Amino acid sequence: MTQTSRHWWQSATVYQIYPRSFADSNGDGIGDIPGIIGKLDYLRDLGIGVIWLSPICASPMRDNGYDIADYQAIAPMFGTLEDFDRLVAEAKVRGIGILLDLVVNHTSDQHRWFLDARSSRDSRYRDYYVWRDPAPDGGLPNDIQSTFGGPAWTLDPATGQYWFHQFAPEQPDLNWANPELRADIYRMMNWWLERGIAGFRMDVINLIAKEPDRGITADGPKLHDYIQEMHRETLAGRDVMTVGESWSATPATALLYSGRDRAELSMVFQFEQVMQQWHETWGKWQPKPFDLVALKRVIGRWQTALADDGWNSLFWGNHDLPRAVSKYGDDKRYRVESAKMLATVLHLLKGTPYVYQGEEIGMTNVPFSSIEQYRDIETLNMHRLHLEAGLPETDFITGANENGRDNSRTPMQWNDAAHAGFTAGTPWIEANPNYERINVAAAKADPESILTHYRRLIALRRTLPLVIDGRYTPWLEAHPEVFAYTRTLDTQSLLVIANFTARDVTIDIPAALRGDWQPLLDAAPALLRERATLAPFEVITGLADRSFQF
Ligand code: GLC
Ligand code: CA
Repeated sequence: MTQTSRHWWQSATVYQIYPRSFADSNGDGIGDIPGIIGKLDYLRDLGIGVIWLSPICASPMRDNGYDIADYQAIAPMFGTLEDFDRLVAEAKVRGIGILLDLVVNHTSDQHRWFLDARSSRDSRYRDYYVWRDPAPDGGLPNDIQSTFGGPAWTLDPATGQYWFHQFAPEQPDLNWANPELRADIYRMMNWWLERGIAGFRMDVINLIAKEPDRGITADGPKLHDYIQEMHRETLAGRDVMTVGESWSATPATALLYSGRDRAELSMVFQFEQVMQQWHETWGKWQPKPFDLVALKRVIGRWQTALADDGWNSLFWGNHDLPRAVSKYGDDKRYRVESAKMLATVLHLLKGTPYVYQGEEIGMTNVPFSSIEQYRDIETLNMHRLHLEAGLPETDFITGANENGRDNSRTPMQWNDAAHAGFTAGTPWIEANPNYERINVAAAKADPESILTHYRRLIALRRTLPLVIDGRYTPWLEAHPEVFAYTRTLDTQSLLVIANFTARDVTIDIPAALRGDWQPLLDAAPALLRERATLAPFEVITGLADRSFQF
């Protein structure tokens, strides 16, 4: 791909903000839009080009805004529409675009469409949702389960039918088969696009074309027709970026979403490496040990499948996942080393990198010990179901501390003042007690901090075309402790060799890779001989004016 045919979002780095937990401007304990505006200089200095905002629309907040009651109003706890317009304008001045979270698989049960739909079988909004009669025995229409635990059907006694919800009962699924619903969604999207946003992150977009009568939830037959229609009606002719969340995407289906001639999305988020670490029955609540070979295999498959068409999103964490350094690194003795190593490995891959708030200072999972400390609807529901199934509570808490969603939702750690400088009041969820050591102010004062390292990586993507366009070639694929690859563009190459363990690891260097490597990221130049020893979580990087054949 030549430089001129590139899209702006291929050289940009995205930063995800979970508004509730980022910065509180008025002391009510909840982050808000004015709080975000106050941190824009920090984000500009980090070098990012896009902010993805988790939902900010009016919502009863059962699922922290992923249950929207009004798509065209800002939740009062986050601010006003004027605040939002100011955010867009102030971000733009700093070269940053705003990506909104488009949650259109479902609404809140407090959305006026659902309130109306529920009021009568004859409501003009009835068919905006998915209703079914009880089974002949009066029971559930079928046995589809919801993601947050329990059946995906809830009975509405007043109208005698069940509504369908792939998440909580308070998140009724929209019926995308209804063309009027689709037109309303597109009108709403255009309204936001005309306010100057840079695009959308699309929540569980793979689920919209559900056909529950046939047991189909993800990847319904009409999915890509809907996304193409959406593209025609909203995105076409606008220079925006879109990223679809798809827990079912594979390297093959990724091209259906992001292929050059598909007119659908810029890219998808995929979760193959996340899910392969989960227990068969109890999922993320009983995690399996980390398997680097499996992780590399997934990443390699995606890098290869989207090498010439489509585009990858690159991320270690988000608001649904544990903290990267706790999951894939060492959040104790080697926290700094492993956080930098993980950042290097990810940011030098081909794709658009995403940084989840706090990752750039190496924030860690929380050490909660009681269920009272959690806030997440999924964690609380699963806790109840685990206890009902007779499983020990301590096992559940261990699982939740390893993989639960609140790990990434504790307040952003700005300084060592009370509650990490996040709020002057009482935060809606406790700050991680390690904020006294791990915070932005401390990172800024340290020239070798994780934060500095992120700045260098983000800047490198803007200045070195190889990082954007270079071909990915894995090496040592079966090695259980080392992640190694090269990227090559014309006659220039980049090398990454990362130790994922807390031990020294010695590897043999193939003849082709031996020799001098120019420094990258302020590291020392590397001279590779027959063998190399990597210190715990060390990553070796280098640049060379040659290309490699393996
Ligand atoms: C997505 C969101 C998650 C939310 C769910 C339902 O997976 O990332 O936070 O709970 O969709 O909207
Ligand atoms: Ca607030």
